[in-house]
Amino acid sequence: MEVVDQLDEILSCRLDTGRRTVEPCTVVIFGASGDLTARKLIPALFHLCAEGQLPSPFRIVGFARRPNTSEAWRAELRQALSSRPKEFDPTQWDAFAPNLFYCAGEFGDAAAYQKLRAQLDAFGHELLRRNLVFYLATSPSQFAEVAGHLCDAGLLARSDGGRDGQRLVVEKPFGHDLASAQELNRELTRFASEKQIYRIDHYLGKETVQNILMFRFSNSVFEQLWTRQSVEQVQITVSEKLGVGGRGGYYEEAGALRDMVQNHLLQVLALVAMEPPVSLEAEAVRDEKVKLLKSVRPFEAGQLAASAVRGQYAAGEIDGAKVPGYRQEPKVKPDSNTETYVALRLLVDNWRWSGVPFYLRTGKRLPASTSEVRVQFRPTPHVLFAAQCGKNLDANSLTLRLQPNEGINLRFNGKAPGTNMEIRPVRMQFDYHAEFGAYTPEAYQRLLLEVIANDSTLFIRRDEVETAWSIVDPIRQAWAGQPLAETDFYPAGTWGPAAADEMLARRNHKWRMTSDVSAAPKAEPRPPAVVTQSNGRSEPGKICG
Ligand code: BG6
Repeated sequence: MEVVDQLDEILSCRLDTGRRTVEPCTVVIFGASGDLTARKLIPALFHLCAEGQLPSPFRIVGFARRPNTSEAWRAELRQALSSRPKEFDPTQWDAFAPNLFYCAGEFGDAAAYQKLRAQLDAFGHELLRRNLVFYLATSPSQFAEVAGHLCDAGLLARSDGGRDGQRLVVEKPFGHDLASAQELNRELTRFASEKQIYRIDHYLGKETVQNILMFRFSNSVFEQLWTRQSVEQVQITVSEKLGVGGRGGYYEEAGALRDMVQNHLLQVLALVAMEPPVSLEAEAVRDEKVKLLKSVRPFEAGQLAASAVRGQYAAGEIDGAKVPGYRQEPKVKPDSNTETYVALRLLVDNWRWSGVPFYLRTGKRLPASTSEVRVQFRPTPHVLFAAQCGKNLDANSLTLRLQPNEGINLRFNGKAPGTNMEIRPVRMQFDYHAEFGAYTPEAYQRLLLEVIANDSTLFIRRDEVETAWSIVDPIRQAWAGQPLAETDFYPAGTWGPAAADEMLARRNHKWRMTSDVSAAPKAEPRPPAVVTQSNGRSEPGKICG
């Protein structure tokens, strides 16, 4: 091969612009007057349009009960977007806004769907009438009703999910337990095939979460170590400083287990622990994720307390400001038992991970908003450095920092300069922003583009959502009806109930975060520690990092 050809090949591989093949299409948002539309969906579509990633032509139709006109809806959305001036360019808005239309109607009213159909017909272009994405930003109890009416109106037809068919996008929570998720799946698949259903988990739209697969399977260095032989434990933390704010009504029904663990944390676990897929095709990736989730050892009744901890925040302080407890938040029952914190110890019963604990924790009103995966490697045998460190030689770890300060840290030991034998943990650090600049698209931006491009790799398949429910259902059942104990409450601004630390301490483990490294004391210049022995010879000082 000519050198020039080789160069071209390398560059075209490195400079993949990530552009997807997209056909003209219309996105119809049900629940268009809701918070999600103004806060996430429209900004994501606006940015895709500004980046030239949307097809030409495209249309967006907002469908909601509230009477409104297209002009007034555009003005409301403009107002919402322009409140974030950094993200708002009026010229780009002027190019985007004429593609937005509003259709007022009740979800249960057949005539409203005829009106929607007439609106789509008026767009003229064949694909704008046929290549349709229906985004159901509604309550799950309305999914089947909307899908049924779409079918009756001739707007949705079962297909094999081909290029110009229709797609249904559904938000989480997908059901509230295994039985309700199965029922929802049965209802939706009456009107659309599994290939047409896109179940969203916005964590899968995050760059850093997608990078877990790339990192694992494109680097032989790390993948070699990704086994029970080298890994002692894995910790997945998704912590938030925020409380429930105005979402008390929803959260009372959900709790941290349904709101975060059943979806986001189990998805991250699946990506961290799955086997390599045979290809990057949607089905191949999802097959492996399901296989992994199916290998999670079920919780046995009576043993739950040793592997599952819940908590609820009480009043406390975040960043020096006093904040109320969960029970004092709006729309929350004053004697609520809903958990705002969950920590789990999961075991994965397969060849690769047998015996390695996966610790998962998430909570609201914790001291930091951080999501990360920490892979803790097994300690080295201590013989060599026993004189210097005893048993304190730090074990290596690799941390995937999902957000913020997106990046990857490798922590290992090194010799501190000097004539003594001082060993200290140091780190190698990869930082997304330093390496790639500040391009971090919103998760919804990526996910909407994938739906428009007909690629379901980043969405949850039917068996995946059901398997995830089957993991958390026994925990939910054990906690239901059991009032929280005094010790389950943690003051806002602390790292959750003590029982979560004890769960790890029983196995000589403890929760660790990247911030442990940044907070580690810096090496102070000090004189070489030389200890003179009675025989007059000197030996290295017994100092460890
Ligand atoms: C949502 C949950 O799915 O994820 C919220 O409903 C949570 O309770 C949010 O705050 C966290 O998402 P992110 O992207 O801010 O980590």
